[in-house]
This record gives sequence, structure tokens and C-alpha cells, in this order.
Amino acid sequence: MATYSDAVLDEIRSRVDIVDIVSQFVGLRKAGASWKGLCPFHAEKTPSFMVNPARGIFHCFGCGVGGDAFGFLMRQDRLSFPEAVRALARRGAVELPEERARGGESDREDLYRAMHLAETFYAENLWRAGGERARQYLETRGVDPTVAKRFGLGYAPDGWDSLLSFMRGQNIPDDLLEKAGLVVPRQTGGGFYDRFRGRLLFAIRDLQGRVVAFGGRAFGDEQPKYLNSPETPLYTKGQTLYAIDLARDAIRAKDRALLVEGYLDCLMAHQHGFPETVATLGTAFTPAQLALLRRYCGEVVTFFDADAAGQKAAERAEELLEPSRDSVAWAVNRSGSFADAGALRLRVALLPAGHDPDTLLRSEGAGAFEECIGRSRSLLSYALDRALTDTRDMSGARGRATAFARIAMILSKVSNSEEALALSREAAVKLGVDAAQLWIEAQRLGGALRRPAAGPPPAASAPGVPLAEKELLLLLLHVPASRAALLQIVDEADVAHPPLRALLAALRRRPDAAAEALMSDLPGDAERGMLAALLLDERDWSDAETVETVVTQFSQRFDLKRRLRRIREVSRAIAEGQAAGDVSLPGLQAELQALQREGQQARELTLGGSSEPRSQARPSGPRGVHTNG
Ligand code: UTP
Ligand code: MN
Repeated sequence: MATYSDAVLDEIRSRVDIVDIVSQFVGLRKAGASWKGLCPFHAEKTPSFMVNPARGIFHCFGCGVGGDAFGFLMRQDRLSFPEAVRALARRGAVELPEERARGGESDREDLYRAMHLAETFYAENLWRAGGERARQYLETRGVDPTVAKRFGLGYAPDGWDSLLSFMRGQNIPDDLLEKAGLVVPRQTGGGFYDRFRGRLLFAIRDLQGRVVAFGGRAFGDEQPKYLNSPETPLYTKGQTLYAIDLARDAIRAKDRALLVEGYLDCLMAHQHGFPETVATLGTAFTPAQLALLRRYCGEVVTFFDADAAGQKAAERAEELLEPSRDSVAWAVNRSGSFADAGALRLRVALLPAGHDPDTLLRSEGAGAFEECIGRSRSLLSYALDRALTDTRDMSGARGRATAFARIAMILSKVSNSEEALALSREAAVKLGVDAAQLWIEAQRLGGALRRPAAGPPPAASAPGVPLAEKELLLLLLHVPASRAALLQIVDEADVAHPPLRALLAALRRRPDAAAEALMSDLPGDAERGMLAALLLDERDWSDAETVETVVTQFSQRFDLKRRLRRIREVSRAIAEGQAAGDVSLPGLQAELQALQREGQQARELTLGGSSEPRSQARPSGPRGVHTNG
């Protein structure tokens, strides 16, 4: 919800061009008054993602998401609302009021500030006197000083409180440093000590380039080799990729990402001309990390040590084939040969035994690394190979049967059928079975497994959105002149559909607001998606005469609905009263009769009085009223 004033938000909206912002991430083509492209938030082959510059909104008719520039950035870059506001304010050169009560947000802001100060402190220590040992280490690892500076490498001095005392000089409280994971409480006697001491420091940044964590490498054989920040409000492991801020543009430009494990692997790859490299930081890559990359490119190359490749690939592939919240949007794909806009092509590059990207680049150079990438194969075909080798030791027939079952199971989960077909041919050859037989088994398993796809939220045109309610909101949004009259006669209780009801409530709070400005008043994605969908309705709303007519019609309709509701209530009360033995409820009986009489009159009025629609802009709502009676 908005914590900035409407005036500030409107100002920012008017200064930024949503087409500009979206086209940083999505290829857009002009389509009428709007722009059209492939939705970045769900897998699709035909564009249903619309951006309307006049309204400053986007909406996907495929998956239902929608919003304004703030909402787009929140989704795309995973920002909180205030973060998106600040980002766009910078972009539009709008000055934000300095002092603001931001509640929980100020906490995060303080943490970011502490991390930023820490980064500055560590970096300064690396390049000033006293940092010789760290600089020496960089040299032995072959890190170019300009690359070290671009990545913001730092040096944590040896003492127990170098950072602590620096921060005290900056008036940063100790407990904030603890929250940021920079200091650790002493076991006895109270107080804190520096977490990072005598290490080379790597700053981990988010998409916006803000430091959220550090990793510190020991200079010698001390354990642990790498000491990392703990999880904090700013840092969740497995959600972040090292160097994503530096690599994002290159990933987009090259339409591929290289995914390595270590800090130095990543640094070296950048240094050798692979700026599209990011690191997972020691852990296996997660669906969340792949979903992040999926926004910027269609292909991800991961690097596995030759020895461990099969095992790791199989584990990853099977995990990724399980539909999960993060992974439904893309499928694990085999190669570049299938034009599937939604799928991320996940490939495995085999490193020569004993090498990691860092050592390969240093000893063999960029060419060898590029060759390695060139020889990469799909993760899925590795997983299939693994299923074969795992069973090789079993006795002939039994091994084959086990492999057959396992491969059929894997294939049954491959969502792209072309892909699954090609893979089953490949596997059948290796397994020495009939491809058709394997295919049939996979289909059979697939049919049994196939669950209804986790559907996108209903778009505005979806069934379940009452037409009359939708037409009412369309009118309210597109014809501000109708608002005063309509808001008087319509009640939130008249609107059953929750997002539409929330929209009505928002309009009631700010009846003078521009329709698109309501975006930041709405509580959730469903409501914002609905508003965007309604704003994209391209009817001609300029027919003022019709407004009057439809206001009357809505008035009658909601009047009638209200009466019907009351009839039901009264009837129920009478029935309950009678069931409880109270047979004389004269007040209610009389009310019921009166209601029924009025209802009859109103019905006649509605049916007799409304002529057929003449204008396109006429809401269809009031028609069909009598079916409720
Ligand atoms: P590696 O052990 O492969 O180290 O861990 P590395 O990256 O090759 O490091 P160098 O070349 O010896 O300096 C890969 C990644 O796993 C994480 C780090 O992110 C590291 O870069 N890691 C490793 C830790 O977080 N802690 C550790 O103790 C070890
Ligand atoms: Mn290494």
C-alpha cells in the first residue's frame, strides 16, 4: 500500500514512460494505442502482454497480471513498493520528501546503509597501506585490479573490532550491525566482535546494486575457506546470484547466462571476456535463481566437474522437472532447436577433470572455456544418461527394465512434447528398446501424473467475473462524469467479485482520482491486474447521453438486487421463526409482501422501460436482471 503521497506518485508516473521501462526487459511492438509483447511473467508463445503508455499501465491477458510502472518494477526486479518508488523517482528525477515515516521500511533502509558503509570501509582497507597482504593474494590469483575494483572487493583487517569502531564513528548502533550479519555477539561479557577478520571480501549485491551480504576468503588454509554473511532481512540464500547486477545487461544482450559456483570463477570469467557470468555461491542452483535468469535470457549454461557431472545433473533435472511455484513458468529444455518461448534451455558444460572455471581460464585461456561451452549438452540428456549408467551394473534384463521405467518417468514430466519425443528417441537407441514403446509408456505415466496446471489468476474476461459488475466498474473508471451518481446508488455489498469490490472501494475513497492512479491504492495483485485489464478496454466512452441511461439502469438493477437480498433475508427470518415455533411475525410478513409487490413493479419497469442497446458503450449489465427474480 502507498506510503508516499498521491501527489508524489502521480508526479513520478507522469515523468516516466512505462514503454521505456518495460522495453528494457520485453521486446514490444506497437499495437493500436498500446504496445504488445511476450509476457515476462509466464511462459507464452503468442504475445498477450500489453503496455499502454497513455494510461501508464501493463497487463497480461494470458496470466492476468497487471499494474503500473511501480508494479512492473516490483515484479521484474523483486522490489518492495517503496523501493520501486525510489527507483522510478530517481529515473524521473523526482525528488522524494527527505523525512518519511516508513514503518518497517526504515529498518531495511538502515540495513542497506550499514552494508554500504561496510563495503566502503572494506574496499578502502584493500587499497590503502595495511592492505598489502590482500593485494598480494589478488595478484597470486591473477585478479586484475580494475576488475577487483569493479566488483568492489575489500579487505577485512585482522583485529576483532576494526569494523565495529569504524561504525561507531559513523553513529551506526552495534545491534544494527548484528542484524546486518556484520558482527557477532561475544559469548561472555556482552558486546560484539567483527564477523570478518583477515579475509578478502566479496560484496554480494542485489539487482539494484545494493550490497546485501559478504563472502570472505581466507588467505591461507584456515577454515572455513569461505566465510559468508548469515541470512538477514536483506539476504536469502538461494534467491540471490553473485554479480547479477554487473552481469544483467550482458545476459540480456547475449541471451545467455553462464552459471558458475564460486566467487573467483565468476570474477575470472568476467576478466576473460564473459561478462554474462553469475555465481550461485557454492550451493546447487535453485529454481528461484533460474527463474530470475529466465527474465533476461533463454539459455543458461552451468558448469560441472567432469567426475560429478552425471550425478549432479540427474539430481538437478529431476528436481527441476517437479512443478513448483518457481519452476512452472519454464521447462527444462534439451537444446536450442525447439522454439519454445517459455522454456529456459538449461545446458551443462563439462570441465576437464580437476578444473573449475577459474583454473581453466587461467591455465588455458578464454578459447578453451568457450570450447567447453560449445560442447555443452542439455541437462535433461545428461539426466537420461545417468538413468542408463545407474542401472548398467544390474543384470541385463532387470537393469533394462529399471532404466526403462525410470526414463519413461522422466520423459513423462517433460512438458514440451516435441522435446519429450526427441529425447525418447535418443534414450530408446541407447537403451536398445523400441522408441514407440518408450513413448507410449511415458504418455501413459504422463496421463496418470498430469495434474491440472497451476492456472494463472483469472483475467478480467474469465468466467467468474460477473458481467454486470465488470460493466459497472468499466463505466466508473472510464467515465469520471458517471462517478458521483453511480457511487451514490451502488453499494460495495452489490458487488460480489472481490477484486471488483476492492476497486469500487478504492474509487469511493478517491472519486476524483485518475483511474490509473488508483493502482497504488489497491491491496493486491489480483486487484491491480483487474484494474489494468479494465483500463485496456478500448471502447469509445465519449457518448455522454448513454451515461445517463446506464446510470438509471444500474440504479434500477442494484435497487432490485438489494430488494431481492432483503426478500431472502426476510423469508429466512420468517422460516426460522416458524421452525422455532413462533408463527406470528406480522412485521416481517408485511415487509415481505411489500417487497414482493415493489419487486414486481420494478421488474415491469425494467423490462418495459429499457430499449435495446444503441451504443457500444452501453453496459450489458442491466439486461438479464429478471433472471435473478
Ligand atoms: P570451492 O571450494 O569450489 O572454492 O567452492 P572455489 O570457488 O574454487 O574457491 P577458490 O578457487 O579455492 O578460492 C565454491 C564456492 O562455494 C562457496 C563459495 O561461494 C565458493 O566460491 N564456499 C566454499 C563457501 O561458501 N564456503 C566454503 O567454505 C567453501
Ligand atoms: Mn577455485
